[in-house]
Amino acid sequence: MKQIKNICCIGAGYVGGPTMAIIAQKCPHINVTVVDINEKRIAAWNDEDVENIPIYEPGLSDIVKEARGRNLFFSTEVDEAIDKAEMIFISVNTPTKTYGMGKGMAADLKYIELCARQIAKVAKTDKIVVEKSTLPVRTAQALKDILENTGNGVNFQILSNPEFLAEGTAVEDLLSPDRVLIGGDIDTQKGKEAVNALVDVYSNWVSRDHILTTNVWSSELSKLTANAFLAQRVSSINAMSELCEKTGADVNEVAKAVGMDTRIGSKFLQSSVGFGGSCFQKDILNLVYIAKSFGLNEVADYWEQVIILNDHQKKRFAANIVKTLYNTVSGKKIAILGWAFKKDTNDTRESAAIYVSDYLLNEQAEIVVYDPKVTAEQIYADLDYLGTRTEAENRFLVKAVDSAEEACRDAHAIAVLTEWDEFNELNWEEIYRNMLKPAFLFDGRRLLNRKAIERIGFDFYAIGK
Ligand code: UDX
Ligand code: ADP
Repeated sequence: MKQIKNICCIGAGYVGGPTMAIIAQKCPHINVTVVDINEKRIAAWNDEDVENIPIYEPGLSDIVKEARGRNLFFSTEVDEAIDKAEMIFISVNTPTKTYGMGKGMAADLKYIELCARQIAKVAKTDKIVVEKSTLPVRTAQALKDILENTGNGVNFQILSNPEFLAEGTAVEDLLSPDRVLIGGDIDTQKGKEAVNALVDVYSNWVSRDHILTTNVWSSELSKLTANAFLAQRVSSINAMSELCEKTGADVNEVAKAVGMDTRIGSKFLQSSVGFGGSCFQKDILNLVYIAKSFGLNEVADYWEQVIILNDHQKKRFAANIVKTLYNTVSGKKIAILGWAFKKDTNDTRESAAIYVSDYLLNEQAEIVVYDPKVTAEQIYADLDYLGTRTEAENRFLVKAVDSAEEACRDAHAIAVLTEWDEFNELNWEEIYRNMLKPAFLFDGRRLLNRKAIERIGFDFYAIGK
């Protein structure tokens, strides 16, 4: 296999954008072209002011600034980029199916399939096709079938190279990954060469002992397993948070005590209003679907419980607000601080804030949202997507404002749903003065200092205590 000189990445989203920016920065000898059918997105990646790139990640704009126009390009010319590249990454979205067989569980592979068909149509020379999006196990086989049966007789090697980056720390995770996983057809010479070509790309900045090579299926399943384990930890500690509230224990103290056991470890034990993000729920549903399709019902039920508990956590948080506000929030103003699914990202996919707000809206509350990075447009789009009420009703009942102070003015209650650092720096005394009394504050992230908040006069509730 000759050295890779041109890489094409299909999909300029949360995965494709940052990953390719780092590859371009670390491999100045490789031309990297990121393509997308979304013209608006590509235009934003090409915006003269790098602060306007469509994805907010600490450190990313500097990297884009360094590499863009040198060996990093963003374009809507998909065919041209495919034709030129020796290696093609597929980083398109794989949402959970919203129709037909596997609805609500299986991943919708239509975007992946469209990519495969396009590659097959355009390719005139041998290509290495790399799955980057999270995919159900055995997707590589489907890709291979399409490529080999519709292609122009060129050789395609399919690799699985799952992305483990977390949003908000994408740059850090990409620059020094715990591991890079590359799955390929390692039993054949051509397969081995393809794996090595990708190993060479990463070796420009990742030490060899952090690059694992496996067969394709192990690689695909490892990605789902890693996300399932992480989500399971959050659901495990969240399950304990409810028990803590009943027994007088403090979930943070329990998490610390448990996490000091080196076999368990201290990370990912922060109790919350529920995990969100584009991966955890989707990947577990996928795992459940795959297990069921093999008749492994006990395995499926085991993992499904992680989701059931997560849904319960969001619901019980919202229900507690209603109960505490004398069993009704009808016509009451509730301030929501934080809409993103976690801090340091503008991503809102599956964010707990969406579901908590929807619950409160069903109870006829008025919602005022402040998030430092999420636009009003996105907030409405998230609520509209649920289809619980009309778009007009959402716009009437929900307002997005530019500051936490404004959101909280004249509110009956505040719910902190994203752990943005700036919420700790707020002038809580002033916020208290401008609220209706009693002033209720619900901390879904264990962000605030209970003593200080209670001293001001708030009626304070924090998850897990
Ligand atoms: C996750 C995986 O971490 C990453 O490896 C994979 O590639 C994609 O999915 P991401 O969704 O970006 O990344 O965020 P992550 O930091 O894992 O958080 C997921 C959700 O769990 C967030 O809503 C977060 O607030 C929540 N969480 C996380 C907790 O509630 N408690 C914790 O202790 C950790
Ligand atoms: P992820 O978090 O997996 O990166 P995103 O939704 O952020 O997901 O990004 C996926 C991107 O893939 C979107 O910008 C979408 O427009 C793009 N996309 C989907 N299908 C195609 C396709 N056939 N050709 C080019 N781009 C595509």
